[in-house]
Amino acid sequence: MGGSVSLIAWLIAGVCFILSLGGLSQHETSRRGNLLGIIGMTLAVLAALFSGEIGGGWIVLMLAIAIGAVIGGFVAQRVEMTSMPQLVAILHSFVGLAAVLVGISLYIWPHANVDSAAVMRPHDLLHKIEIALGVLIGGLTFTGSVCAWGKLDGKIDSKPLLIPHRHLINLAMLVVSLLLAVWFVNIDAIGTGLIPLILVMLISFLFGVHMVLAIGGADMPVVVSMLNSYSGWAAAATGFSLSNDLLIVTGALVGSSGAILSYIMCRAMNRSFISVIMGGFGTTGGTLVSGDEEQKSYTSTSVEEAAELLQNANEVVVVPGYGMAVAQAQHPIREISEILKEKGIRTRFAIHPVAGRLPGHMNVLLAEARVPYDLVLEMDEINEDFPTTDVVLVIGANDIVNPGALDDPTSPIYGMPVLECWKSKNVIILKRSMGTGYSGVDNPLFYKENSDMLFGDAKSSVDGILQHLRV
Ligand code: TAP
Repeated sequence: MGGSVSLIAWLIAGVCFILSLGGLSQHETSRRGNLLGIIGMTLAVLAALFSGEIGGGWIVLMLAIAIGAVIGGFVAQRVEMTSMPQLVAILHSFVGLAAVLVGISLYIWPHANVDSAAVMRPHDLLHKIEIALGVLIGGLTFTGSVCAWGKLDGKIDSKPLLIPHRHLINLAMLVVSLLLAVWFVNIDAIGTGLIPLILVMLISFLFGVHMVLAIGGADMPVVVSMLNSYSGWAAAATGFSLSNDLLIVTGALVGSSGAILSYIMCRAMNRSFISVIMGGFGTTGGTLVSGDEEQKSYTSTSVEEAAELLQNANEVVVVPGYGMAVAQAQHPIREISEILKEKGIRTRFAIHPVAGRLPGHMNVLLAEARVPYDLVLEMDEINEDFPTTDVVLVIGANDIVNPGALDDPTSPIYGMPVLECWKSKNVIILKRSMGTGYSGVDNPLFYKENSDMLFGDAKSSVDGILQHLRV
């Protein structure tokens, strides 16, 4: 394949990536979006292989692709939905490491890039800036993502490591890296230039570790999407160094979409992006934080009573949360909704933008259980229907149905929009204890008169309700 054919293939691949992102933004089109992404990536790899630019390197490339495909396929088959964030985190680390390795090797062996413009570029100021930036962003993405993976996977303590003067230390590392980058840019001899470049790499590694270790485990999903954004910018910087337009386009797409996603997640949690990066939140884990010692009373119910209540309802809304993902209760809940539908009871699903632990977590689980898309409604679409709802089943959700977010200014989650399910006639909350969720705050919903707790693992409780509905 000649250079111009490769160029056209890259262009088509770029369009595929843009359409893929568009497709992934909605349930109905997400499969198509995924497929377009696969087509785009296949085209990009084929175009690189046949561009004539890699010469004999294609054997190594094919070997690397084959090994990567086998490992990737194996891991993807085995990964649980609840472990998705850590998988995404570790994948970002590869992008960061690749950016570092490409940057350094391009500096040492500029001739390896047969693009004629690039061959001329080792002494080019812009080229050196691109290399330094790629190494800096790639380095912190690499180690930051490895730490994020460790925290999410329980390999590293999720408590934030709050070293005294940590902001100052971060600032110092950033300033020193920039000074080293300036030094690097101003050196002509490759041997000497390697010293500041390697130092930039080492400091960026340290920077990534320190930045992510200072962030509480609970904020990790936002950090993962931020690292996703960084990995995109690192790839874009590498694209500039390699004079590869597709890598620039793809990197910019990943970089900007990751940044937008981080912003959306922070807004939905009522957290400022800066406060997430500064760290320290979400350290309490699942402990019950109670402002006063006053004993509040709650009522509990049984699967029989819950099934009875559902059978006598006209309007039912299911609110899934993180606990549904942990318990894997999505399949029996879909069966419940089908039985209720046959009985003429309208059953819909209400999705909070940050339910679960990753964006679209609940949508993915419900789609996997084949819940029809038209029954799945976003928070803004369903919130005003709660007053006319007979029964709300809250399945392993907590923070996203906390009324304190609306009426308790002292609550850490005050200001976060929530699903106002307490406005319905009856609320049944399926969880294992009175324990808190992600934010570690007590939930006044549990003590409301129209609320009943159904204690137990969500899957067993939902299975129990299902059995009673079947008879
Ligand atoms: P949470 O507030 O974390 O509550 C989940 C509840 O599920 C817990 O209270 C837990 O109670 C229960 N649970 C756990 N395992 C269970 C099981 N096997 N069976 C039954 N219940 C189980 O979840 P949520 O309401 O989905 O809210 C999400 C939270 O995560 C929000 O605070 C949000 O800000 C945060 N967050 C979300 C994201 C994204 S992008 N989704 C990103 C970062 C942070 P028990 O232990 O008593 O069972």
